[in-house]
Amino acid sequence: MHHFNYVQDELFCEEVPVAHIAEAVGTPFYLYSHATLKRHFRAFDGAFAGLKHLTCFSMKSNSNGAILNLFAREGGGVDIVSGGELYRAQRAGIEPGRIVYSGVGKSEEDLAYALEAGILMFNVESSQEIDRLNEVARRAGKRAPISLRVNPDVDPKTHPYISTGLKENKFGIDIDDAPAEYARAASLAHLEVMGISCHIGSQLTQVLPFVDALRKVLGLMDALRSSGIRIRCLDIGGGLGITYDRETPPPPEEYAAALKQTLAGSDVTLILEPGRVIVGNAGILVTRVLYTKTTGQKHFFVVDAGMNDLMRPSLYQSYHAIQPVARRERPRLTADVVGPICESGDFLAKARELEAFEPGDLLAVMSAGAYGFSMSSNYNSRPRPCEVMVQGGIFHVIRRRETFEDLVRGESLPGEPA
Ligand code: LLP
Repeated sequence: MHHFNYVQDELFCEEVPVAHIAEAVGTPFYLYSHATLKRHFRAFDGAFAGLKHLTCFSMKSNSNGAILNLFAREGGGVDIVSGGELYRAQRAGIEPGRIVYSGVGKSEEDLAYALEAGILMFNVESSQEIDRLNEVARRAGKRAPISLRVNPDVDPKTHPYISTGLKENKFGIDIDDAPAEYARAASLAHLEVMGISCHIGSQLTQVLPFVDALRKVLGLMDALRSSGIRIRCLDIGGGLGITYDRETPPPPEEYAAALKQTLAGSDVTLILEPGRVIVGNAGILVTRVLYTKTTGQKHFFVVDAGMNDLMRPSLYQSYHAIQPVARRERPRLTADVVGPICESGDFLAKARELEAFEPGDLLAVMSAGAYGFSMSSNYNSRPRPCEVMVQGGIFHVIRRRETFEDLVRGESLPGEPA
């Protein structure tokens, strides 16, 4: 459920016509619905009511401060993967005790920064990281709270680039090696073992892989208990999918019910790291048709947003619905929607049946709230788009459009002060 709807053939975000925003801020731009964000957060978090839990929004999916701040006010925490994300979390007012930190390549500086900030838990991903964190904590005269991120070898049945829980993936510690690593970590003076974490992949459309992974993690928890290591938190990552096209992922209640049943009264705090399921369908990318063109048999709509603005179609061949901002009765044709970037891989949609758009028409690229802006770049020296949030009948620019000056900020000639 989201708040992007047509009213007499005109696309609205909540109570604001999308075309009005385009007039005011130009194109392309990302547009988020406050009511949808809030609703999705509450639907997800609420599904776990009755269970000790913490919903840590996975901010790699969308790291805009206004969005993080909204979740902070709802009582959420965040899942971070870098020092930069920690900085953003702090600025957005997320309590440090609600921050968990994953990632296979945490630098020493980032570990020290997060330790100093007092985050809830480090999800440690390798044997060497255990030692590095212990050493960083020793120097700081602290104890670092940790979980080991285990790789349960469960197939999430999703795109290979975003599956993480198979033995062949780079993530986590092999679950079979985990007992020995836990024993080692528990013996180190500057680490405090708190939990087990696990994230098997993203855009999952079935409940079963989550349940399989949780079962394996619970098995490990029991084994650790019998060797005297008590686990207080289970972080089961994110990964619940959304509908981009025809997918039918389980709703949060069904996901939560399956996990609750598998947990069967275990006395642990459950940590969840949802990203896409909360923000994915709460945001769109609005772009304008620059040109239409036909080469041989093929039709193209050349629009002013490219793969630098929304990378998902190029990188994963992923589907994003494309809708007109003003619907009209007109012939339809099959076309590619392409951007201005100098690469044939620069497309937003391929062989899509669409209205015969004309230059100047506004298009909405749907389901772009997750991994949209956060994966954008300045490739081809294109300033990144602005981000706008609608709240009821008003809209706010929550990140201004970049300027040409922004593109060269920080550059210097050899010999000049950097
Ligand atoms: N926790 C960890 C440790 C993760 O690695 C991820 C995502 C999440 C949570 C959140 O997963 P979500 O609930 O959003 O599925 N760029 C790709 C997705 C990459 C996901 C990476 N990890 C895409 O655009 O589809």
